[in-house]
Amino acid sequence: MSADTKVSTSKLSATKLAREVAKRRTFAIISHPDAGKTTMTEKLLLWGKAIQVVGEVKGRKTDRHATSDWMSMEQERGISITTSVMQFPYQEHIVNLLDTPGHADFSEDTYRTLTAVDSALMMVDGAKGVEERTIKLMEVCRMRDTPIISFVNKLDRQIREPLELLSEIEAVLKIKCIPLTWPIGMGQDFVGVYHLTENKTYMYQKGHGGEIVELETRDGYDYPDIRERLGALMFASFEESLELVQMALEEFSVEAFLAGEMTPVLFGTALGNFGVNMVLDTLVKYSPPPKSHATNEREIAATETNFTGFVFKIQANMDPRHRDRIAFLRVCSGKYEKGMKMKHVRLGKDVRIADALTFLAGDREALEEAYPGDIIGLHNHGTISIGDSFTEGEELNFTGIPHFAPELFRRVVLRDPLKSKALQKGLQQLSEEGATQVFMPQINNDLVLGAIGVLQFEVVAHRLKEEYKVQCTFEPVSIATVRWIHCDDEVALAKFKRKAHDQLSLDGGGYLTYLAPSRVNLQLMQERYPEVTFSNTREH
Ligand code: G4P
Repeated sequence: MSADTKVSTSKLSATKLAREVAKRRTFAIISHPDAGKTTMTEKLLLWGKAIQVVGEVKGRKTDRHATSDWMSMEQERGISITTSVMQFPYQEHIVNLLDTPGHADFSEDTYRTLTAVDSALMMVDGAKGVEERTIKLMEVCRMRDTPIISFVNKLDRQIREPLELLSEIEAVLKIKCIPLTWPIGMGQDFVGVYHLTENKTYMYQKGHGGEIVELETRDGYDYPDIRERLGALMFASFEESLELVQMALEEFSVEAFLAGEMTPVLFGTALGNFGVNMVLDTLVKYSPPPKSHATNEREIAATETNFTGFVFKIQANMDPRHRDRIAFLRVCSGKYEKGMKMKHVRLGKDVRIADALTFLAGDREALEEAYPGDIIGLHNHGTISIGDSFTEGEELNFTGIPHFAPELFRRVVLRDPLKSKALQKGLQQLSEEGATQVFMPQINNDLVLGAIGVLQFEVVAHRLKEEYKVQCTFEPVSIATVRWIHCDDEVALAKFKRKAHDQLSLDGGGYLTYLAPSRVNLQLMQERYPEVTFSNTREH
């Protein structure tokens, strides 16, 4: 480590750092579109006093009805940077909420963001139950055994039977549900929730969705006005389900929660701002403070005083006039201080960072300091890639920030054949930003683009035109999914390569991949070549 690098930060005491680490909770929301993620985000910020009036979280309507019109995309992207990371205080804690792009802007970034959090909040629309995108996002959470808090939303509407919902979560997502609260009524008759361990009822008051009100609480739940609101039949059915829940209820185990095997479940309405503070209370009480992270050298504990961090997302062209790119870095240990020098490990270069950004409730702000669990935004002129590690001099690379197998594929058709060099360069560079991936099949000279969200194809076409002066269109191609190929047994690999030749390709990083024409084909190949590993992620 150079002496210069070392003196750039003031002495950080281990005690002060441990205190800052213990305070932090870094999480993301996983949900299917329309389950209420944006509404929940808004209300969390309201509780965090990061916004005064609900409605300040931008990008609400625009990103829900995004069209192919670039201007709206550009605006949306401009907006979404401000909501990419939101930091706010809650009680004596500092909460970092990382946005997981969800609607048209759903992409690999959504998955990769989950590698940068210590826990996640799963939102389930009470009327719909477990939906497809939630299942996928949960699979990503499983890779790191991320602890999950669950919130059943929209209790102010008619929802499905709560017991049935919990069984569905358990069966589909393979996670044990432990309700902390139990709903009393729903829809027009939503009275509130009964807290199972506190033996208290928290009363829901309609019409206070945009403000913080002190909730009325009562001991127990059996009150004449509650009986009257529900009617005899519904009250009896509430009592019956409560009894069933209490009978079957296992004790909540923090250990099982931290291992991602058990999830505490809360009920409420994000729109009605009811249950949101219970989410925050649960988060600060049970969710882990910044965890340690694996590197190629050793495990880095958050409480180590030397600064380290990794880049998990790059967002380009937020401001069309500046064409700047922001690299989002998760601080893993130590402290970032304005003006400090850090080592960009892949390039082996020291860089002085004077202008990192933080994103407090929608404003980009110049940042003075940041601690483990925090996210900082680094200005990037093309030198920073996803997965890059930054340290105070130590040679190490964080692992576990993968590429995910794309789910959608298109063949790139170039309008002007003379521009093929520019096209390759453009695709390569855009894929380094991480929202799409490029594949080069061995059988022909095609270029195949892979993405997780469909809008990414349009973004690429637009950016190729604007930034690389290349015009291209996309054609459908019969690829269902892709797997990265590893095999230590050279003979087996050669045999596989001969057989699979027409389906093999190299990805943007030069790694061997198998482009499966169908899931059935993939399964057959996996069965036929057990020595070959078909991986659905690749480390950077
Ligand atoms: P998303 O980010 O997960 O996609 O969901 P978002 O918060 O945008 O919510 C989707 C729709 O569900 C919105 O209605 C929102 O108001 C509604 N919603 C969210 N939470 C609740 C809730 O607790 N109760 C009820 N009844 N509705 C809820 P919209 O009509 O599509 O849009 P908007 O006009 O309200 O913005």
